[in-house]
Amino acid sequence: MSELFGPTNAVFHDPALFTAEQRLLRSSWTCVGTTFDLPAPDTRFVHEDAQRSLIVARDGAGTLRAFVNACTHRGTRLCQGRGAGRMQCPYHGWVFGTDGRLLGASKRAGFKTLEEAELGLKPAAAVQLGKLIFVHDDPRQTEADLRAFLGAEAEQIAAISERAQRPLLECRMPLRGNWKLAVSGAIEDYHVAFVHKQTLQKGRSSRPEDYVLRPNGHAVFSTAAPLGWKKPLLRWLGGIEPLEQFESHFVFPNLLVIQIVGVIHVTRFVPVAPGESLRVSQLYDISPRRGWWNPLEWLRWAIMPLARHGLHKVFREDREVLEEAQVGTGVAPDQLRGPAHMEEARVEHFLAEVARQVNVAPRPLPTANDA
Ligand code: FES
Ligand SMILES: [Fe+2]
Repeated sequence: MSELFGPTNAVFHDPALFTAEQRLLRSSWTCVGTTFDLPAPDTRFVHEDAQRSLIVARDGAGTLRAFVNACTHRGTRLCQGRGAGRMQCPYHGWVFGTDGRLLGASKRAGFKTLEEAELGLKPAAAVQLGKLIFVHDDPRQTEADLRAFLGAEAEQIAAISERAQRPLLECRMPLRGNWKLAVSGAIEDYHVAFVHKQTLQKGRSSRPEDYVLRPNGHAVFSTAAPLGWKKPLLRWLGGIEPLEQFESHFVFPNLLVIQIVGVIHVTRFVPVAPGESLRVSQLYDISPRRGWWNPLEWLRWAIMPLARHGLHKVFREDREVLEEAQVGTGVAPDQLRGPAHMEEARVEHFLAEVARQVNVAPRPLPTANDA
């Protein structure tokens, strides 16, 4: 058996491997956002990664749905970004509803036959877990399949995401680096004291027992984060009970769900091309919205630009080293990947799962309907 995923740096550059990884991603569940992205019935957004474009929507009745973003007339991409209500194809003007039905074709009398009922958008599976939205290319997949894939992670990430009360900020950052390098940089703590020495304080090194490696490539880093004297202050400022457990859940293949103090942080690393990816970070406040007259709300409003600035700085630091890693692995593609530090345990686990899945012929996941 030829090994697409070998032990050298070539795995961050090889176009054939990238194609195989896209099959892997498409036969897996992908988190595409949160329920805050679909705030009302009849709203929608487009999720795109290397080889697909999906419309994720709440239809008029509020049901979550996903469709291939291609008009059923000549296949034109129907829409981009976020929107609400019906979608009109930019080519000949066919109109579709957020439930995927074809609502009307222009100059209809000119068609010999046209069966609207058969020309709806091609569906994909869409499932809400906690406040996270997952999609799967195979429309027969169900919530039971998603839960089976996530295992113990299902309950935990659902519970964490349920704590999110309102969006704080969203950052979409294009990266000139392979998606596996981008994921790796976000799930290891070995670089933190060095790369983020100005921006993040890290009191102590992680311990092996802080890491739990789970089946299917998922992995958790969890550690107590006592707040000490800051706790009553945060309680007063936020009007909530601050979280004293830092938890970072990596959900294979490209999702990271983190809870830290008063914030829930959902990050996805979207593959674009072998040497390109996109970081999408969404942050949520765990404190509910207060009235505009509340001074704490004003204080929060004043602090927010500082928080945003600090966070972007951390993201830029990560981007800088990621892009250097992309360049370096490109000039030394035959070099073996070096040994892994204990704090890189999740990276090893992640890369081993990608290797396992692409080195065997990728198969679609079994569906509950097959049982
Ligand atoms: S391609 Fe969409 S209406 Fe013709
Ligand atoms: Fe980092």
